[in-house]
Amino acid sequence: MGKLWQKGYDLDSLVEEFTVGNDYILDQHLVRADCAASTAHAVMLNSIGILTDTELVAVKDGLVSILRESADGLFAISREDEDCHTAIENRLIRSAGEAGKKIHTGRSRNDQVAAAVRIHDRAMLFACIEAGLGLAEGLIELAGTNEFVPLPGRTHLQKAMPSSVGLWAGAFAEEVLDGLVQLWGTYRLVDQCPLGAAAGYGVPIPLDRELTARLLGFSRVQNNVSYAVSSRGLVEAHLLDGLDHICIMLSRLAQDLILFSLPEFGYFGLPDRLCTGSSIMPQKKNPDALELVRAKSASVSSHAARIKAVLHALPSGYNRDLQETKEPFIAGSHTALQCIAVMDLTVRSLEVHPENTVKGFTPDIYATDAAIELVSGGMSFREAYREVAARIEELGDRDPVA
Ligand code: ARG
Repeated sequence: MGKLWQKGYDLDSLVEEFTVGNDYILDQHLVRADCAASTAHAVMLNSIGILTDTELVAVKDGLVSILRESADGLFAISREDEDCHTAIENRLIRSAGEAGKKIHTGRSRNDQVAAAVRIHDRAMLFACIEAGLGLAEGLIELAGTNEFVPLPGRTHLQKAMPSSVGLWAGAFAEEVLDGLVQLWGTYRLVDQCPLGAAAGYGVPIPLDRELTARLLGFSRVQNNVSYAVSSRGLVEAHLLDGLDHICIMLSRLAQDLILFSLPEFGYFGLPDRLCTGSSIMPQKKNPDALELVRAKSASVSSHAARIKAVLHALPSGYNRDLQETKEPFIAGSHTALQCIAVMDLTVRSLEVHPENTVKGFTPDIYATDAAIELVSGGMSFREAYREVAARIEELGDRDPVA
């Protein structure tokens, strides 16, 4: 069976290869979502009398077997199909006959892909929120267990003031939670059903958009049919921006852990099972996973930027350019999810060595405290600052745990 738009001529093979690109491979990620959306659309078509009860059963059965095959990795989408929407419709026509030919009533691939992407986004969003909550929990546990373990606080990487592992780990936990607030805001955008928008201009059929939205678990219909199609990409960029917030923190946390688990510091230890070795240097235990979190998490913002670059200056209505937002979204969201999982594992297995963290508490780290003590004796802060600066060498040892 051919393309949905087949009408008696063959597409130049170079143009086909170029326009389809790897979209037919990426679309394996959308099969489940498209089957869900197609089922809801079919139920709605039945409710307005376009599909009979028998036809609806045939369509549903067909979609269920596609879902089963897809779960077993057996649902094929070929380059000639172009995308999952075509492969699914062709397959439905084979299994459900006439009923399969009716499934596209009142829809276009434009709202179809928008709905499938939206459903996929939503699943990804929930997976990311769940992973982020797990990571925040791990960090809060680390902070709680080591609340009063002294850790040199640093600015410019130089020793600055006394701090604790609790304060350090708690900062990262709060940062993840702020990122999750941003993701929750994205959920408000994701939670609108584009189906019924068709090509972006609606259709002269009394589609029950409310019913389709409700069946798919969306709390509302996306109101403007043109925006329903053109908001594709915007939502995905928004989601990646939220993930980027968390990923920026992941790369900084990875950097701290790489640095402070060096033998020269020894504040933290990474268990062997999280480290890789060298092919030549027998002694090496390398934090490759953290290095890759540092590099990979940095790519999430570039995936978001790639999506935004596609959207700039697009004319109104569907444009094939939108297809190019799919790959960066899938790559960016999977990368972020993996980085969160690796950091969660690291945080939960991290060894903290208080015997080494206290070594950073040389007298100079108490300079600001000494100045503030002079202030409490009545001296102005600037005077006290100069006084302490002139006698840094004379500052004495203190007990960091006191
Ligand atoms: N693979 C296409 C995409 O991702 C499906 C939609 C095609 N629509 C069209 N009008 N050519 O955008």
